[in-house]
Amino acid sequence: MFELVRVLSQQGLVRVELAKWRGRLVVVKRLSGFSAEATRRLEREADVVRKLDHENVVPLLATIEGALVYAYVPGVNLAQALADGPLPVARALKVVRDVLRALEHAHLNGVIHCDVKPSNVLIRGERALLTDFGFAKDLALTAITGDQQLLGTPNYMAPEQFHGIRTDHRSDLYGVGALLYHALTGDAPYGSQVLRFLTGDDRITLAPLPAEAACLAPLLSRALAREPGRRFAHAAAMLDALQATPIGA
Ligand SMILES: Nc1ncnc2c1ncn2[C@@H]1O[C@H](COP(=O)(O)OP(=O)(O)O)[C@@H](O)[C@H]1O
Ligand SMILES: [Mg+2]
Repeated sequence: MFELVRVLSQQGLVRVELAKWRGRLVVVKRLSGFSAEATRRLEREADVVRKLDHENVVPLLATIEGALVYAYVPGVNLAQALADGPLPVARALKVVRDVLRALEHAHLNGVIHCDVKPSNVLIRGERALLTDFGFAKDLALTAITGDQQLLGTPNYMAPEQFHGIRTDHRSDLYGVGALLYHALTGDAPYGSQVLRFLTGDDRITLAPLPAEAACLAPLLSRALAREPGRRFAHAAAMLDALQATPIGA
């Protein structure tokens, strides 16, 4: 059914492959072993992504025997793009505007992504697309537990998520703030000190922004506020604030 081209990623039992299907390149996300929990998670990812239809969200083409078939986005993910250092400011802002548009659409559809980070943003030419709704919370379905906190780097994770407290769409806006900070400076917020920040140490501060992005400091400190109530209320409000900065349009 699928002709494997290469494996793009393997996280636990979830394998992501570039494959040929019906004469085109697609990305297939499926299990490489049996787990009831991972099966449920993939099913939920499909249910969530099916509700979305937006130019900044990677579209799901089909589900076949438990495998999720996504449109292939040629290019790199944002983590790969940042491996060589920060992005030019205008480019970083374009990526973030695209991610905010994707999140505005998701949030309006009752979906919280819960894992906004550079490896889940794909860069295709000028456009950025959000993917990997594997930890998403669908407000219309049962909420998932906070088990995503066990995985990966916590540098993009909102403090309330880290503590396993009820999250809402503002946790995603923290993730966007972290992503923007990384894109501008070349390093994730708080670097290796992030656990001290997350566990409440307010002596841990952010390294300053490069001079050409200094006017974004107020916006970033709002996006990265420890308290969700101090963040932007919605993705659209953060997008407006970004576009209102001297360099954000
Ligand atoms: N549609 C796609 N087109 C191109 N590359 C993709 C696509 N989906 C995923 N990838 C690549 O595979 C990686 C893992 O996919 P992802 O959905 O984030 O799963 P997971 O993080 O659970 O392994 C991404 O970081 C990206 O590099
Ligand atoms: Mg991912």
